[in-house]
Formats: sequence, C-alpha cells, structure tokens
Amino acid sequence: MTEIKTQLQETFERVYCYEGNYRYFFSPGRVNLIGEHTDYNGGHVFPCAIQLGIYAVISMREDKFIRYYSMNEEDTGVIYRDVENIGDFSYGRTWSDYVSGMIYALINEGYEINRGFDLVICGNLPVGAGLSSSAALEVLTGYICKTVYNLDITNDFIAVLGQRVENDYIGVKSGIMDQFAIAMAEEHKALYLDTSTLEYKSVPINMGDYIFVIMNTNKKRELADSKYNERRRECEDALEELRAVLDIQSLGELSIPQFEEYAYLITDEVKRRRAKHAVYENQRTNLAVQVLLADKLDLFGQLMNASHESLRKDYEVTGVELDTLVDSARECDHVLGARMTGAGFGGCAIALVKYEYALIMQEYVREKYLEKIGYEPSFYEVEICGGPREI
Ligand code: GLA
Repeated sequence: MTEIKTQLQETFERVYCYEGNYRYFFSPGRVNLIGEHTDYNGGHVFPCAIQLGIYAVISMREDKFIRYYSMNEEDTGVIYRDVENIGDFSYGRTWSDYVSGMIYALINEGYEINRGFDLVICGNLPVGAGLSSSAALEVLTGYICKTVYNLDITNDFIAVLGQRVENDYIGVKSGIMDQFAIAMAEEHKALYLDTSTLEYKSVPINMGDYIFVIMNTNKKRELADSKYNERRRECEDALEELRAVLDIQSLGELSIPQFEEYAYLITDEVKRRRAKHAVYENQRTNLAVQVLLADKLDLFGQLMNASHESLRKDYEVTGVELDTLVDSARECDHVLGARMTGAGFGGCAIALVKYEYALIMQEYVREKYLEKIGYEPSFYEVEICGGPREI
C-alpha cells in the first residue's frame, strides 16, 4: 500500500511540478459470481468487489480547474477540465470521461463542487476485461467528491449516478450491477441485489478449501458495447410482447413455469431465447444464493455451469475465447464449476476450484487456451474486499 502511495506521489510531483496536500483513495473492481444479464431485466445479481482496483492521489486547488493523469496511460499526458463547463465536450471512451461524467452528474444533481483538484490515478485492474474498470472509476470519483467536498450523498446514490454516466453520457445501456457492487461492497461478502427495487443483502462467503479464480481471455474488446445494447433491446422487445397478456414490468418478475406458459407470445425465436435466459438466470441466482448459504459449494458450481451454458446457447454472448477457458477449466479435477462473468464477448470467466489445485488448473487452462486461441490468458485469485475508501 505504501509503495503505491509513494509511486502516486512521485508521479504527482513529476507531472504537476509541485508538492500537494495529498489524500489517497482506492476503489475496487468487481466480479459477478452469478446472475448475468439480469440487472437490466429487473432480476437478481450476486457480485462481489475484488482486491484489484484503482488507486488515486488528489490535491485540492484554489481555482476551478481539474487536471487528470493516469499512470496506466502515460502517453495521453495531462488532461485539463474546468468545473464550470465539465459537461461541454463530446464523451468518447477515454478514462477521463468517466471522471468528468461523474463530476458532471453530481453537479447536475445540485451538489456543490466549487473548487478544482489535481489527480493522479493508477490501477491494477485490467481495463476492458469485464471486471468493471469503468464503474470503479465512476465510484472512485463519486467517493472522492463525497469526501473532499463533504457532500451529503450515500454510496448507493453514487452507484445510481455512475450508471447514469454510462447510460446518458457514455452511451452504454448497462444496468446498475457494477456500480452498486463496488459502491456497497463489504469485505468477505457478496451482494445479493434485487435490481428492480435496489434492496440487497450482504451474504458472507465461506469458501472452505475452495477459491474463485478469474481467468482473463485477454481478448481485445470489439463491438462489445453495441452488442450489449442489442441484447438489451431484444429483451425489451420480448417483454413488450409478453405484456400484451401479462401485467408485468420486467422479465425478472416471471417464474419459470409462467415464462414457459407464455413464451409463445414472443414471436421471434431469437428474442424468445434471450428472454428465456433472463428468466432462468434470475431463478438460478436466487437458488445459488440459497445453496451457498447452506455451504453446498458443489451445487453452486453446477449452477455456474448451467449459467454459462445459457449464456452460450440462449444469450449468445460467450464466444470461442470464453468457452475455451470455461471448458478447459471444467476438464480439471477439483473444479466445481466455471462460467463467464460480466458482459461477455471476451473479458473474463471464473472457476470455482479447490485451493491446492488452483495452480494445476491454471497451467492446464493456459496450455489449452494458447493452443486453441494463439495467445495466453491471465489469472487472478479472488480476494473479496470492501468498497471505496480513503487509504
Ligand atoms: C456489464 C454491465 C452490467 C451487467 C453485466 C452483465 O457488466 O455493466 O450492468 O449487465 O454486463 O450481467
């Protein structure tokens, strides 16, 4: 921790050429254990925050300028903004847009941000890998602002504003899961969230001899956002057709028998499969939390497997890279289950594996993946950690 603080401080002084009054912050990334593509369908999700995340050092300024610098993107150099017109530019997809977007969202909500600051960030969370680096940045910014400007804002509202940044400024129609999972995270607990009401329970995770291993495809992100938005539209279309007969607001309200009874209303076969995934995955998530609470890890693993199959066949968001990771992990002894996590189309998968066999599994998966895909995956062992904080 002190090492990263020293690096941040040294970079700050090299880039901005003065010694500031430093405050340091951290926001984690997240991994979703189960409940995929359910959040924008009013269903349940079950994510947790992880030890990988984004660190920041900040020093307040007397004027209204804000300067940003990322140690992960040194080529971009220093980015300048003015609090007065922070919304006045077209949002692209650079890291600073998530910071600007969050400040803009806070100002739009009437929060007083009357001074600028100088900021340096440094992350050990792989970018664009489905571990929510963008949500981590939004929540980090929200939490920094809450602290340094003494804003009367709750962490769950920071999450809501983070989602607004994605939806309204960045143009990704994502659900609330990522920001909520990060903003409300608690150590050693996963968050069982009902996305239709934002009611949640923090569930202690007792893994016994097992751990979750994240397996990163290292696939370059392509078209992921447009395909994501397409899936969301397909679900909305399916819901609309069901609503001709059923009095429901979201697919998450449906039980499996109800869905099966009325699925014929969805005329398009593809959209029917999308809706099927949303309904079954939601029910699977509810069941998964119950079995985990009953310490039945083997059943949890089976539900992970079923989740991946549904994402592969009905939702069609996996692809050869994720399938290869998941299939080869499942071939190993002492792996209870494996599935993709996050939006899909690349990104990461997770495997539930007995601790002492985790390295053997990684070696096997690495070999298989390299052989089939042509480059190496990366692995991270999950430590479930708390939410944004000053460090
Ligand atoms: C991305 C989105 C989330 C969620 C997942 C899929 O991570 O940001 O809102 O929809 O994909 O479960």
